[in-house]
Amino acid sequence: MAFWNRTKPIDTATQFEEHHQLKKTLSWPHLIALGVGAIVGTGIYTLTGLAAGLAGPGMIWSFVICGVLCAAAALCYAEMATMVPAAGSAYTFSYTALGELLAWIVGWALVLEYAVGASAVAVGWSNHAQEFVTWAHQSGWIGFDLPKNLTHGMDLKGMITGKAVFDPSQALLNVPAAFIVLVVTGLLALGTRESATVNFILVLVKLAALVMFVVIALPHFNAVNLHPAAPFGWGATQHADGKNYGVLGAAGLVFFAFYGFDAVSTAAEETKNPKRDMTLGIVGSMILCTAIYVAVAACALGAMYYTGWANNGAPLVVVLKFLNQPEAAQWLTAAVMVAIPTVILVLLYGQSRIFFAMARDGLLPQAVARVNPKTKTPVLMTLIVGSVVALVAGLFKLDDIAEMANAGTLLAFIGVALSVIVLRLRQPNRERIFKTPLWWLVAPFCVLGCAYLFGVGLTHDTKVLCLGWGVIGLVIYFLYGMHKSNLARAGA
Ligand code: ALA
Repeated sequence: MAFWNRTKPIDTATQFEEHHQLKKTLSWPHLIALGVGAIVGTGIYTLTGLAAGLAGPGMIWSFVICGVLCAAAALCYAEMATMVPAAGSAYTFSYTALGELLAWIVGWALVLEYAVGASAVAVGWSNHAQEFVTWAHQSGWIGFDLPKNLTHGMDLKGMITGKAVFDPSQALLNVPAAFIVLVVTGLLALGTRESATVNFILVLVKLAALVMFVVIALPHFNAVNLHPAAPFGWGATQHADGKNYGVLGAAGLVFFAFYGFDAVSTAAEETKNPKRDMTLGIVGSMILCTAIYVAVAACALGAMYYTGWANNGAPLVVVLKFLNQPEAAQWLTAAVMVAIPTVILVLLYGQSRIFFAMARDGLLPQAVARVNPKTKTPVLMTLIVGSVVALVAGLFKLDDIAEMANAGTLLAFIGVALSVIVLRLRQPNRERIFKTPLWWLVAPFCVLGCAYLFGVGLTHDTKVLCLGWGVIGLVIYFLYGMHKSNLARAGA
């Protein structure tokens, strides 16, 4: 079989899982908790500040645009996940619908979503860790503060593209970001899994911090602060600093705040009533997060003119301090520090599952995915992934890596929505536990919307880097996977 024609039959894609009949214990409230736990993170707590610098008050609309797009993607994920409930997420879905080459490209793009995404979340965590240490220092609790150059990664991308110069006194290595990735990697290597109870508590902590913010900021809402509504325009215009300004430009960044809901789709096998629970779980967590994000963004924008907190690494903390609420600011900082590492855990775990699925299909060397008999985890792979993620978190600026993660995620969403379309057309009678409502509208909307945001919202540099990443992936595929994959061997 020629490599462009190699698709994996859906029944084979799921047969690995047959001997693990998972117990059906989950219902929609669990799924909403799972979704919110994986979604709420650095996007709202940190990128809000960078997005405000790009779009001003128009940022609210950036959140709405991304929420609608991600809801469409989430519905497509739910359909595919209930049909192909096997590890590997978008990569496995694409393998059954679009063929090996496109599946490899989607899997390669998922590395950006998961591994680079984990680095970005770690940088957001680091910003709040700095706040915390500075506060502890000023309060006399500890005798040191963190030096600036050891809490900021150098602008590697800016240096490569000639837009920044190396200044080791200002930015060298983001030590807290690398540190938190290594801690989470260690936990994963030891066999830590998300625990439903811990996740539930941390979800409450994260939501409580955001609700507290809204309750404090809302009484100070002043509509004057929302004018002009879109100081940088509604589209996306690249400025001399290489960033994309405007509502769509900010959407290209805050898109980061929405993903993570694939975590819900991976629980499809364990839900009691998939049709009802998956719909409520996925759509419910999307609606809940979009509503909270819009409320937080509107309250921040209304309480303090955006220029006062834009581009700050801990923007909600700045607004609370401005409103004379230092204690609330400390609570919010503490909530971020405690709760956000689980997002890193979910992403790193997801990355290891995807590499695992790719190695199982013969597209990556099996040795990489070998499971350690003691801990029952792929220790070697976890350590390699964790070290690379820690390095990226330590060396790069947040907006650069968040945008790269967005680029990979947008490509993966396109792959999943295309898979829905292809399978609906080719196998219309196959049983679908969850059916995307109005699939003929939702799936093409997702494909076109993601392609548009990729083309217009992302910066030129991100697109070039993403292309480079794709070329490296293709070279690896043509040198290795194309000859070694299980389907290639079966064909030979
Ligand atoms: N949506 C996740 C976050 O914002 C990745 O941290």
